Amino acid sequence: MSAAQPTVRSAFDLTATEYDRARRQLVPCFDGFYRAAVAALDFPREAPLDALDLGAGTGLMAGFVAAAFPVARITLIDLAPAMLAQAQARLAPVIDRIRVIEADYAQAPLGGPFDAIVSALSIHHLEDSDKRGLFGRIFGALKPGGIFVNADQVAGATPALEGRNKDEWLARARALGVIEDDLAGAIDRMRFDRPATVAAQLRWLAEAGFASVDCAFKDGMFAVFGGYKPV
Ligand SMILES: C[S@@+](CC[C@H](N)C(=O)[O-])C[C@H]1O[C@@H](n2cnc3c(N)ncnc32)[C@H](O)[C@@H]1O
Repeated sequence: MSAAQPTVRSAFDLTATEYDRARRQLVPCFDGFYRAAVAALDFPREAPLDALDLGAGTGLMAGFVAAAFPVARITLIDLAPAMLAQAQARLAPVIDRIRVIEADYAQAPLGGPFDAIVSALSIHHLEDSDKRGLFGRIFGALKPGGIFVNADQVAGATPALEGRNKDEWLARARALGVIEDDLAGAIDRMRFDRPATVAAQLRWLAEAGFASVDCAFKDGMFAVFGGYKPV
């Protein structure tokens, strides 16, 4: 691929300063979605967690984790430097608990071991074989008893349901007053989407060794799912 061709990195770098403003319209179930992801982290509030956020972007998910767990240390990985610059600004009040790494998590070592690995709206950019490989590497980067929570865009279980989810998403985003430019940008970035069904991803997690694999939330094309590394 030539440098002039758009990539996931260039697509998100271009939108970094506007990314946050349309989140509640482009993720119509925004509150329930992120709330379910954080609620799945069933640790005591004061636990000194070591957490990793894959595809952290502007730090939305990391910010929710930092607020829910006031002494957690959080490592953010993302391949788009302009998105990470926004994350550093957002997380400035808790920056002593934050580490930021610019890298492609499909290839770079994940580090660890971590108590929790989270990801929001990112892993669906990987091809299915890379998702499966990543789930295995996430398993390897967790402490025994650690949890992986993926809040992501998923494929419909059938082509008909996929179509219905997409139509419903568009209608809800418009009903919530999305700016047409933001909607067009999101639709343009969808050319990088490679979503898989929840059922397939739960199976891949179990194959990677995860236990208590489950889907905690689903609303159209948005789902929160994950599992534990056995003790
Ligand atoms: C839709 S944004 C989500 C950002 C944030 N997690 C949120 O919930 O708003 C997706 C992010 O994943 C990042 N990303 C996609 N593929 C990646 C990869 N292989 N390695 C690192 N970051 C990646 C993009 O750069 C982008 O910042």
